[in-house]
Amino acid sequence: MTTNIIILAAGAGRRMRSALPKVLQPLAGKPLLGHILSTIEAHINDSIVHLVTGHASDQVRAYCETQPIHNAIQYHNQEEQLGTGHAVKQSLTALDKTGTSIILYGDVPLISPETLTALIEKTSEKSLALLTQSLDNPFGYGRIVRKQGQITAIVEEKDANDEQRQITETNTGIMGVKNSHLHELLPKITNDNKQGEYYLTDLIDLAHQHDIRIESHSVENRIEVQGVNDKAQLASLERDYQQSLAHKLLQQGATLADPARFDLRGEIHIGSDVFIDINCVIQGKVTLGNHVEIGANCVIGEIGKEVTIGDHVEIKANSIIESGTIENHCAIGPFARIRPDTHLNAYAKIGNFVEIKKSTLGQGSKVNHLSYIGDAQIGEKANIGAGTITCNYDGVNKHKTVIGDDAFIGSNTSLVAPVNIGKKSTVAAGSTITKDSDNEQLAIARGKQRNIDNWQRPEKK
Ligand code: UD1
Ligand code: MG
Repeated sequence: MTTNIIILAAGAGRRMRSALPKVLQPLAGKPLLGHILSTIEAHINDSIVHLVTGHASDQVRAYCETQPIHNAIQYHNQEEQLGTGHAVKQSLTALDKTGTSIILYGDVPLISPETLTALIEKTSEKSLALLTQSLDNPFGYGRIVRKQGQITAIVEEKDANDEQRQITETNTGIMGVKNSHLHELLPKITNDNKQGEYYLTDLIDLAHQHDIRIESHSVENRIEVQGVNDKAQLASLERDYQQSLAHKLLQQGATLADPARFDLRGEIHIGSDVFIDINCVIQGKVTLGNHVEIGANCVIGEIGKEVTIGDHVEIKANSIIESGTIENHCAIGPFARIRPDTHLNAYAKIGNFVEIKKSTLGQGSKVNHLSYIGDAQIGEKANIGAGTITCNYDGVNKHKTVIGDDAFIGSNTSLVAPVNIGKKSTVAAGSTITKDSDNEQLAIARGKQRNIDNWQRPEKK
């Protein structure tokens, strides 16, 4: 059966004090709304998403169009933000009278698929399912009013009396409800309250009056229903979420030097015996093989990109890997920068202060110190000396450098591309290479040394 998932995302989010709409603020590198869309996409088959937008609606819709689920989204415009009840009403004409809807708030990003399924199961012609949460400090939240154990209403903080303010069971904003009930009851909601808004929460009182039972459901994991209204709440949810991601990784067998100093902004897939030192940031889609060690302060991956690392690879401290493939037994860093379209074959080594971009390094080849390798194809067992630079850019176009197997490039060489260095070829240190060399040749291109006898040093006047 098709489930309608209504997401309220029209509010301005003024408390964020940001030009970016609230639902697009990033949590773990991904917009709040993106988390909800991913959950729906991965777990709720055959659902229609009804997205209610208003404030910065162009920006919000443009983002949604980049998401895999975009074909399942129907947009509803809420011209003026007159309250959460008014927001849901904008989607009413699109809701068939026999179906079921789940209502989500765009600023509550980490709702789990299990919770959504539980809500759907508790929703029927006779009942409405409400997600509630007990809080030590319920300030700001709508309070759940019960009579003889049965939920009869929700009272907003601003409308609550002193006695109601003592209630610790709160409304998360999330509910499951039959579309027939929405059609019947939404038009009855009024704005007769302190804020002059059409509250969705009034639906509960109305349902109770119409003999619809309110089933409550609560979550064990707090972060699922943590809402974000300002930057402090965003920062606090970010930390809680990161902690949960680190915990998941530990359960998969990774060793984290300090789970509190680990950040994941994307997805990570790991083999066995992976060690990650402190202050590492993992972004985009990162796959680590078995026995991979990542030193302190490394950034692995970029949002939207992929990094694949094989077995027995060591990434030493302070290295950055933007994207690419690193095969088994490679060693990288410290202080290395691996840029997009880099492929390191097995046993390759990249040392300190080396930048490598759009290049392939053959098996067992080494670039150990202070080099720039761009648009290069390097064979097997080549040794690239300290300070080697591929001059790949003429100011307009990029050109390729090809280096054969077993080549030895002396230190401080400039390879002016396009250029080919043959197999087992040697390039003398300090050369500026502008012509191809054949296999097993020595290429030398530097000023000849003269030694002058009895050199008189200048004297101070
Ligand atoms: C709401 C609930 C409160 C609950 C809390 C949980 C109401 C009246 N109150 O309060 O009971 O405890 O969430 O987090 O529902 N939105 C629109 N159009 C509008 C107004 C809001 O789309 O006209 C959207 C916002 O963009 C946001 C969501 O609805 O994503 C919730 O609105 P917000 O103003 O954050 O409500 P809260 O004050 O948090
Ligand atoms: Mg809110």
